Amino acid sequence: MPRASFPERYGPWAVVTGASSGIGAEFARQLAARGLAVVLVARRRQRLVALADELAATHGVAVEVVASDLARAGAVDALLDEVSALDVGLLINNAGVSLKGRLVDHDAAVLRHLVELNCQAPLALAHGFGRRLVARGRGGMVIVASTGGFQALPWSAAYGASKGFDLLLGEALAVELGGDGVDVLTLAPGGTDTEGPMNTGVDPRKVPGKLMAVGPVVRAALAGLGRRALVIPGAGNRAAALATRLVPRQVAARAAGRIMRRVTS
Ligand SMILES: NC(=O)c1ccc[n+]([C@@H]2O[C@H](COP(=O)([O-])OP(=O)(O)OC[C@H]3O[C@@H](n4cnc5c(N)ncnc54)[C@H](OP(=O)(O)O)[C@@H]3O)[C@@H](O)[C@H]2O)c1
Repeated sequence: MPRASFPERYGPWAVVTGASSGIGAEFARQLAARGLAVVLVARRRQRLVALADELAATHGVAVEVVASDLARAGAVDALLDEVSALDVGLLINNAGVSLKGRLVDHDAAVLRHLVELNCQAPLALAHGFGRRLVARGRGGMVIVASTGGFQALPWSAAYGASKGFDLLLGEALAVELGGDGVDVLTLAPGGTDTEGPMNTGVDPRKVPGKLMAVGPVVRAALAGLGRRALVIPGAGNRAAALATRLVPRQVAARAAGRIMRRVTS
């Protein structure tokens, strides 16, 4: 029997969190190009509306905008309610924030916000949409982690730990939901050319190798969905991730810390 098409497997609707910029906006563009209707979620409504107009004009797909602060209590439940009438076949669990510098120098509220957005929200989204996908017996979920989650990340300790959480969550769900027809892919990008790293003081000239463009990062993820549980875009990033498994954990942590210090100072 021929393999079902991408829209048959993951359509008709996809929900993309963090769709107002960077990797999330690119997911929305590539999914619309593959014929999926998309729900765009982030805080900056103007940007989402502009992207919605672009996608409708370029690809002729239906687009819904949900302006939401996913770090707020109740936001995920409100989103689940808002899209309850749509037949969602794919969740792109992408919204996230990074944070550089020594943990003890940050306010407790900033650290709490990071955990709410990078851990609590993806968990609640995976749970809420996961139940619906299992009930319909077909669909997919992408969880955006980071190569920063493969080892401790000094000078970005909370971010690295949050991405380790996303990584392990995604890899576990790939096993748990595989028998239910739901493909779960964890995407672990390395440095990628978006607003994210720049907003937290990363100097792109000091990043080892080159920041990847969002296009190939998202293409690699969508090509891997349904075929693999983990995608690390870029040969250099894959080699670095493998290296963390070959040395003692503290050696990996110190090496990652040296890189973080260099790119942020
Ligand atoms: N760029 C990299 O080097 C890199 C590497 C590895 C992993 N990642 C991961 O990739 C994902 C996307 O990051 P990016 O690089 O594309 O960064 P980005 O351009 O800053 O995008 C982050 C997205 O998350 C949204 N967001 C932030 N806070 C939010 C909140 N409270 N509620 C709802 N949405 C919120 C932002 O929209 P609003 O501001 O409009 O809300 C934006 O759409 C993140 O999970 C990040 O950890 C990035």
